[in-house]
Amino acid sequence: MEDPQLMMNWNYMQKKDVIEILEEYKHHMDWKDGEQILDIGCGIGDITTSVLYPILPMNSVLAAADVSPDMIQFCNKYKMRERIRYYILDIQQPQLSTDWESETFDKIFSFSCLHWIHDYSQAMANIHYLLKHTGEILLLFLTPDNPIYLAFHHLLMIPKWKRFLKNVTWFYQTDDALTFVENILRRVGFQGIRCFPKIKRSDYHSWESFMELVRAINPYTRHLPDEIQAEFLYEASEVLKQTLHIMVDQDTGAVMMEYNVIIAMAFK
Ligand SMILES: C[S@@+](CC[C@H](N)C(=O)[O-])C[C@H]1O[C@@H](n2cnc3c(N)ncnc32)[C@H](O)[C@@H]1O
Repeated sequence: MEDPQLMMNWNYMQKKDVIEILEEYKHHMDWKDGEQILDIGCGIGDITTSVLYPILPMNSVLAAADVSPDMIQFCNKYKMRERIRYYILDIQQPQLSTDWESETFDKIFSFSCLHWIHDYSQAMANIHYLLKHTGEILLLFLTPDNPIYLAFHHLLMIPKWKRFLKNVTWFYQTDDALTFVENILRRVGFQGIRCFPKIKRSDYHSWESFMELVRAINPYTRHLPDEIQAEFLYEASEVLKQTLHIMVDQDTGAVMMEYNVIIAMAFK
């Protein structure tokens, strides 16, 4: 998702998840004054500012990073807190630039970002590199059995769409997300690894508002010629209507989607 405006529509669903998860797990972390904290994949910075910032210990500094220059430009434009700094960073890049020193951060968070990563090992190795000794991570990301991802994946099997989209990747690939992530965290050197799957639900007042979300998050449409983008989304909508984990209330038209997330915690 590269458009800050579109992300504002999708954001409220993520915010609910992150608030719940921080409420549940922040007490399992060791907090002290004057910490350096990093939020990876901050997007429009809403969760950084309104969820992470309020729980910062005294004299702490929050760095928020995103691969998208548009997101970081948006964050800087609407910046409201002096103790937050925004940076452009691709967390899966093989060589971090010299601006990013090892063992800088006491805590690293990442919410609804790491499912976009293709090189998970590199991303986790970079996170490990940036973390101080005994520093902690709390990561939240979706699994590849997400109904929206699967619907698009279904369309990509159709030659008509495949010829435009065969090189566009989205979501890490595994049938067992929990073991996949645990193994990578262990391999790059994390300790005290705890990964939990959770089933989440999100609600939309109509099919149209649900499809607005789909339009906002899907990375495929912009790779198609303009004149066939609407047809692609129409076909995605038809596939989504058949999906077991998306339910429509026949009386009100409200839509409920069920999806899985993983919460990963560990220390260095
Ligand atoms: C769905 S948004 C989540 C934003 C915010 N964390 C939240 O929970 O609302 C995902 C963000 O991850 C960013 N992202 C994707 N790949 C990334 C990467 N390799 N490195 C850093 N950020 C990345 C995207 O640009 C996008 O802004």
